[in-house]
Amino acid sequence: MKDHLKDELLELALEAARRAGNLLRDGRPADLGVAATKTSPIDVVTEMDVASEKLITGFLTEQRPADGFLGEEGASIEGSSGVRWIIDPVDGTVNYLYGLPSWAVSIAAEKDGEVIVGVVAAPMRGETYQAVLGGGAHANGEPVRVRHPAPPLSQALVGTGFGYVAERRAAQAEVLRTLLPRVRDIRRGGSAAIDLCDVACGRLDAYYERGLNPWDLAAGELIAREAGARTGGRPGEPASGELVLAASPGVFEELEPLLDELGAWHD
Ligand code: IPD
Ligand code: CA
Ligand code: CA
Repeated sequence: MKDHLKDELLELALEAARRAGNLLRDGRPADLGVAATKTSPIDVVTEMDVASEKLITGFLTEQRPADGFLGEEGASIEGSSGVRWIIDPVDGTVNYLYGLPSWAVSIAAEKDGEVIVGVVAAPMRGETYQAVLGGGAHANGEPVRVRHPAPPLSQALVGTGFGYVAERRAAQAEVLRTLLPRVRDIRRGGSAAIDLCDVACGRLDAYYERGLNPWDLAAGELIAREAGARTGGRPGEPASGELVLAASPGVFEELEPLLDELGAWHD
């Protein structure tokens, strides 16, 4: 594959994420309203989620009219170029709604079904993470790597997240009840994209979650992998909605069978 395609897509993703990040940061209304709910009354979409997705798809369509789109707030276009953009216009909407800083814009580009570019912009951290397939991962232009040497699982800091539906949360709490005494500690940051980038930067030793959608993980998974993380789902399977695990080598091998045994992949 021509590297100039990757370079072009990376530049466009960075610019789209920068513009959307600015809109979200500078345009956050004091009385931010909830525009609609998704899977449950606590799974909200604000007017700013919608505005951000519109900005991103508008900008990218102008630059590359033949590309496809998959966006959380409804963008769904097949396209004819073989390139498809996967967009989470605000990952960490609940944080954004409450004025907490951990939210991000996540933009990935796939070519013929393979993710080749990922950008996660976290404006309130002043950080943008990026990766190109085979080209390493960077934060604000500096190379990043997973934590090395990796600690044993008993000393690992593990991020996770919970779905929005009560039955799933009950099952996730059960997994956590067994896992918590076996690790250093647990973090629930509220943005899957940032969690994956935190694994990439060595700020978490591992992150797992059940129930993610492609837009939550496409960019962050590539960034984590390019930073040296191992990623997957159930043993031997790729990351998917069933289960996503990203961890430093070493921690991954300990956590993968344990999560499988604890049933982290089902409700
Ligand atoms: C959510 C966040 C959260 C994760 C949820 C996601 P949203 O995305 O990434 O951390 O636990 O599973 O749905 O709704 O804020 O875009
Ligand atoms: Ca999300
Ligand atoms: Ca979202």
